[in-house]
Parts: sequence; C-alpha cells; structure tokens
Amino acid sequence: MTTSKKETHQTPLKVIILGSGAIGNALAQVILTHNTGAHCIITYHRNPPSFQHPRLTSMSLNALHEDEFITLKDNILSTVGSIDWIINTIGILHDKDKGIFPEKRLLDFNTQTFTQVLEHNVLPTVYAAKHLTSLFEKKNSCIFAAISAKVGSIEDNRQGGWYSYRASKACLNMMIKTIAIELAHKNKKTCVLALHPGTTDSHLSEPFQKNVPEGKLFTPERTAKQLINILYRVTPDNTGSFYSWDGALLPW
Ligand SMILES: NC(=O)c1ccc[n+]([C@@H]2O[C@H](COP(=O)([O-])OP(=O)(O)OC[C@H]3O[C@@H](n4cnc5c(N)ncnc54)[C@H](OP(=O)(O)O)[C@@H]3O)[C@@H](O)[C@H]2O)c1
Repeated sequence: MTTSKKETHQTPLKVIILGSGAIGNALAQVILTHNTGAHCIITYHRNPPSFQHPRLTSMSLNALHEDEFITLKDNILSTVGSIDWIINTIGILHDKDKGIFPEKRLLDFNTQTFTQVLEHNVLPTVYAAKHLTSLFEKKNSCIFAAISAKVGSIEDNRQGGWYSYRASKACLNMMIKTIAIELAHKNKKTCVLALHPGTTDSHLSEPFQKNVPEGKLFTPERTAKQLINILYRVTPDNTGSFYSWDGALLPW
C-alpha cells in the first residue's frame, strides 16, 4: 500500500456511506471532522443518523429493495453530483424479532435465517455497485468498499460455527473480488475493497462482547479512524484486496 500524493486528508471528498449503524455513523463523523471540505451522504433504514452536521445529508434506504437504489442515485446526483468514495456498512448477524441468531452447530441451521442473513450481507453491496458506481468522479481515484468480516475468510476459518454469517461474508467477498475485476476494465482509477473492522462496540457485536479479550473491543470511532487510514493509503493498484483494520492483507 502506498500513499497517493494527490489525495490527502485535505482533498474535499464526496462520500456515500450506506447504513447508519455504529460503524456507518462513526465513519461519517470522522470523515467530516478530519476532512474539512468533505460532504457525506449517509443512508438509514430504521434508525436515522445519530448526529447532524452542515455537510451531512441523510437519505432513507431499504437496501434489500433494488428500486430504492435508483431513487437514491437520482437524489445523490441532485445533491452532490459525482462521488469519490462509496462505503457499505449494512449487515446483520442477529435479529431477535426475526428469530435470527448465529448457529453454534449444524442442528441450529435454519433455511430462513440463512436466506435473510445472505440477503442482508450481500445484496446491498451488489445493488450499490450496479447503480451507484457510475457516479464516480472519473478524474480522481475512487473507492468502493464494503465492510466484510474476517470470519468470511475461507482460509482463515479454524473455529467453525456461525454458518450463515460466515457464508454470507464469504459470498460478499466473492462479489467484491468480481466487482473489482469488472470495474478495473471500465475505470482504471477505481479501488474495490473488502474491509474487516475488528470487533467493534455496536448492536451487532453486543451479544458476543463478553468473550472479547481486554483491549480488543474497539470503539466505533477507533474503528472508523483505522479504516479511513487504509482508505487514504490505497491506490487503484490495491483493487480486489481484503484488508484487516490494521492494514494487513487477509486471505479470501
Ligand atoms: N461490530 C463488529 O464487531 C463487526 C465485526 C466484523 C464485521 N462487522 C460488519 O460491519 C458492518 C457494520 O456493523 P455495525 O457493527 O456498525 O452494526 P450495526 O450498528 O448493527 O449496523 C448495521 C446497519 O445495517 C443496517 N441495515 C440492516 N438491514 C438493513 C436494510 N434492509 N436496509 C438498510 N440498512 C439496513 C442497520 O440499519 P437499521 O438498524 O436502521 O435497520 C444498521 O444501520 C456489518 O456489515 C457487520 O457485519 C462488524
């Protein structure tokens, strides 16, 4: 990974963040604080963003509905025009109301859980790549990143369990890799990445935090800073990579 000379923390970025959960909100906050010319658009589903800012626009999106991405694209065009970064933070691991919980063993596997986890963790990234990457600013290097998870690495799987979540993130990783190949043909300035945020204090990680070793549960702000450091350092040569929060490359 090398630092691009042209694009620094002070390049006024236009960023789309999909999802206003813990990591999505923190990414927007850190970008707006450190990049004084940046404009962020953040999408929300049930819960609007946790803060307001003069350079933050929020737009509603149910990311399982492809047609909503077409409306979103029109709204982005009329708000900021072209964009530099797209970061998808939408994902689920559990949902009490829908009876979704990560499986400990095969006997816990349930087709409905599998289908829903797969849909939530894969479709938003594919719809965003399909409908929003045409908004990328052609003159600058652009980034399309999705928050994946290390447990989605097939090679790294030593612990087992969490069948649906693991499989959904592995599927997401394959989508990212394939999107990277297609976009490299269309626009050589694009960098497409999967990112592992590290265990981060959020609704998603909350039921599993007691097993996290001391010092390994990041605040969303720390996670956002770590991920943004990676985004500032990558170039289009790094497209098709899977990065951990500390900048290390992960095996797919
Ligand atoms: N936290 C961790 O330790 C950790 C570790 C590894 C990977 N990750 C990944 O990081 C990403 C962000 O997670 P987080 O920790 O920030 O969790 P979070 O706070 O629960 O955020 C998840 C977001 O997904 C949104 N979402 C769910 N269904 C949606 C839909 N149909 N349409 C639009 N948005 C929808 C939620 O919106 P609503 O609540 O409004 O529905 C929420 O904003 C996820 O992909 C997760 O898998 C997290």
